[in-house]
Amino acid sequence: QINEAEVVLFSVPSYACQRRTTLDNHNVTLTDALSLLAENAELSDEDGRGVAFRRAAAVLKALPAPVTAMSQLTGLPCLGDHSLRVIKDILENEASDEVESTKQSDRFKALKVLTGIFGVGSKTADRWIRDGIHNLHQLQESGATLNRAQQAGLEHYDDLNQQVTKAEADAITEIVQEAVVSVLPGAQVVLTGGFRRGKQTGHDVDFLITHPEEGREVGLMPKVVFWLESQGFLLYQKTTRNSYLEVKDGPGRPSSNMDRFERCLSIFKLAKKEERGIKVAVNTVKTRDSVRDHTQSETDQNPQSHSYERHELTNPPAHRRWRAVRVDLVVSPISQFAFALLGWTGSKLFERELRRWAGHEKAMSLSSHALYDNKQSRYLRAASEEEIFAHLGLEYIPPSERNA
Ligand code: GTP
Ligand code: MN
Ligand code: MN
Repeated sequence: QINEAEVVLFSVPSYACQRRTTLDNHNVTLTDALSLLAENAELSDEDGRGVAFRRAAAVLKALPAPVTAMSQLTGLPCLGDHSLRVIKDILENEASDEVESTKQSDRFKALKVLTGIFGVGSKTADRWIRDGIHNLHQLQESGATLNRAQQAGLEHYDDLNQQVTKAEADAITEIVQEAVVSVLPGAQVVLTGGFRRGKQTGHDVDFLITHPEEGREVGLMPKVVFWLESQGFLLYQKTTRNSYLEVKDGPGRPSSNMDRFERCLSIFKLAKKEERGIKVAVNTVKTRDSVRDHTQSETDQNPQSHSYERHELTNPPAHRRWRAVRVDLVVSPISQFAFALLGWTGSKLFERELRRWAGHEKAMSLSSHALYDNKQSRYLRAASEEEIFAHLGLEYIPPSERNA
């Protein structure tokens, strides 16, 4: 019997973008369990269920203390029957059977391994599993056709599945800054994503690039990529056009807009800590590896080259002086910068909730490019994230409190 006077009661607003969610999570066991079910739903193409679990987990992340009794959850938003059942199981039995059996299931394990390959989504993984492919070895044996991203993902599998540290993110920031300033003096680089929210590790490093003079950023991405490539910093890159401009490209729109490249998904070759700081060291690494790369490309047509890759996967060379790191680059014109910054800082759920709030509560449409007011039939300008929150009628939430 719980003495009601001793139960801490919580109160939480229903949208994650109305809450301050720091990295100081008092309910890690519960949120890990719900996040795993969310991940399983997302990997099984059940996005609705996925979001429901994500929202439930986010509510628990926002609580100021650990949950100890179900009665404390009365009145909290976003906690559906399914999530409540999972929470109850964990509070009563220390574990949830559903979570444990999902974790142990062959299908979940295979989906995790296969989608752990950069460039492989849940649909591709599902197709492979139906073809009897459950692990990397079987994938390589199968002769399945891989696109360029997936080939790079497989080649650098171990590196890319190892968390990026803040120190590595800082080292990459310096490289990106040097690249950007070399090709366009005055251009600015901002670290976004999880590291801007104060996380100490991440699955990648995200950057937003702009120039204070509107229009100067046009054509910047290919130049940055060329600089990085010529310095030997890129193991893979794919640059894509600004989809926003694509949508708006219609009759009467200058086709020069089509030349605005916006986003680059890349894999960096980062010198190991001992090698960093001295440019000569980076170049040494580059020279050494170009010998290896050359050998490898010569055998590309040869079946033998596959056994080399396999060897790399199961037996990574301990002496390697660099590691692969995923890096996302985005270029934004200064007029859209605040929207891009807000949109690329995350978390993903925080972003989703901002857009839901804008649409459902304010009749506005928010994207990483603009905010449109449907009632006034006009775009609302903003030069800072603070102004966007104000337009949305929300209290300003700093990046470190957007960890929903
Ligand atoms: P980790 O990288 O895992 O540490 O977390 P993260 O929060 O940095 O996640 P991620 O790098 O995947 O994404 C960073 C932010 O970019 C999130 O807010 C995403 O919503 C946003 N984002 C990712 N992909 C896209 C996209 O294609 N378009 C837009 N507009 N935003 C995106
Ligand atoms: Mn990230
Ligand atoms: Mn990213």
